[in-house]
Amino acid sequence: MSPRGAGHEDSPLVVVANRLPVEYDEETGWRPAPGGLVTAMESVLRDRESLWIGWSGRYEEADGGPEIPPPPTGAGGMVLDEVPLTRAEVKGYYEGCSNGAIWPLYHDAIVTPVYHRTQFQTYRRVNEKFARRAAEVAPQGALVWVHDYQLQLVPRMLRQLRPDLRIGFFLHIPFPPVELFSQLPWRRQILEGLLGADLVGFQTNEAALNFLRLVRRFLALQPGGDRVVVDELSGSRTVRVEAFPIGIRAQDYATLADEIPTIERAAEIRRDLGDPHTILLGVDRLDYTKGIDVRIRAVTELFEDGELDPESTVFVQVATPSRENVEEYQRIRDDVELLVSRANGDLGKLGVTPIHYLHQPMPRAELTAMYVAADVMLVTPLRDGMNLVCKEYVACRTEETGGLVLSEFTGAANQMHDAWLVNPYDIDGVKRSIMDAASALPQESQRRMTSLRHGVFEHDVERWAADFLSRLQGGS
Ligand code: ADP
Ligand code: G6P
Repeated sequence: MSPRGAGHEDSPLVVVANRLPVEYDEETGWRPAPGGLVTAMESVLRDRESLWIGWSGRYEEADGGPEIPPPPTGAGGMVLDEVPLTRAEVKGYYEGCSNGAIWPLYHDAIVTPVYHRTQFQTYRRVNEKFARRAAEVAPQGALVWVHDYQLQLVPRMLRQLRPDLRIGFFLHIPFPPVELFSQLPWRRQILEGLLGADLVGFQTNEAALNFLRLVRRFLALQPGGDRVVVDELSGSRTVRVEAFPIGIRAQDYATLADEIPTIERAAEIRRDLGDPHTILLGVDRLDYTKGIDVRIRAVTELFEDGELDPESTVFVQVATPSRENVEEYQRIRDDVELLVSRANGDLGKLGVTPIHYLHQPMPRAELTAMYVAADVMLVTPLRDGMNLVCKEYVACRTEETGGLVLSEFTGAANQMHDAWLVNPYDIDGVKRSIMDAASALPQESQRRMTSLRHGVFEHDVERWAADFLSRLQGGS
């Protein structure tokens, strides 16, 4: 590989993330992988030479398994490099330690994290696999950008293998306060793993502060501002710890939203829904952190109270299948499906379906048409590192109409003060905000949307990546 010319003073760029931007599905073949990390990084790397090391979602079989084509080459100058994982590794590292312990812990322990020692051993082994692969392929002096909670041990492991590299780490999800993080049986290893990086980035200042407090508490280091000095055999080294709130490629969404086929498709969606006065929309991975159940309850009560009329209001919830082998994800799916079918059974009529529920991934163009069609977007996570869906909605509202109801417990809420901000634990408050957003005067909606759009375009993903990478290269 010679990924030079990456736009960052010629340093080759290597990205290490659990997911490649594509995943292998037995029925459909290669398709885009779900989630905000892929959306963001794919759009950043599309235009530059880079190498992306990650897992494809398929299992490595002992006997080689069925013939599966290798991952397609990435867009532009991006090269994809698959790290094969066995079923046992996926179970222990991905479903177990990453998504059964770390994910819920970092999201306020909304569901109870489950800690298994053997799963952490697998987590460590798989982190080693990723680190070794990066060490093998990274050119001399390259920038290596490691991503997210699945790979928190990689920075230290990689530094030990390749001290010549400049290593950055970015956490896409929340980083919890001391009281919660302290539960983690592997807290020291994780903190030391992260401090292997030259730069550790978080979505919010609170997350960065949490990390600095934990480093003081459990590693007895004394951070000075956003810097931590660590002593190593080779001498002391400074690690910077900062917030870099992620964005989206806003202009791409706006351009697609304004294309004639998108506008026509949005009109068709409205017609297919029976030409309602108001379309409410939710779009998420089907995850218990997203508060999908919260908004279904709120909207259902509004129908029951008579504040919303099912003849003139429709709620569409798009939920991408996610982590289906993890028990809590099966539970949230059952809960959501029960709530939807109860509401439709109680409130529907022949030809009138108050809640439309689509459990499927959707092409970008179709999602954009949904954003264009929707009058009010409901984003109600109980906790979310950032949330990109709300930014995508705003970017698509090129006529500056529409309302965003947004949970205070998302990273995005720190930037999007002109959304209708809600506490998702307060159903009455959520109901009030939905009604306020749905019945706002056009001038009020426009004022809010103009301001929201300004922020989303100003802090886009290109700027996020440029800020992170220039800091990683030693910029002040
Ligand atoms: P998370 O990373 O936790 O899934 P985000 O809101 O940050 O949450 O990012 C979700 C990304 O996945 C967005 O880019 C969104 O457009 C995309 N997405 C969500 N639902 C779907 C779907 N049904 N089909 C395709 N993409 C989806
Ligand atoms: C979030 C996480 C990502 C993850 C994505 C999809 O965005 O921060 O690391 O890739 O969800 O989840 P999955 O488990 O399917 O990769």
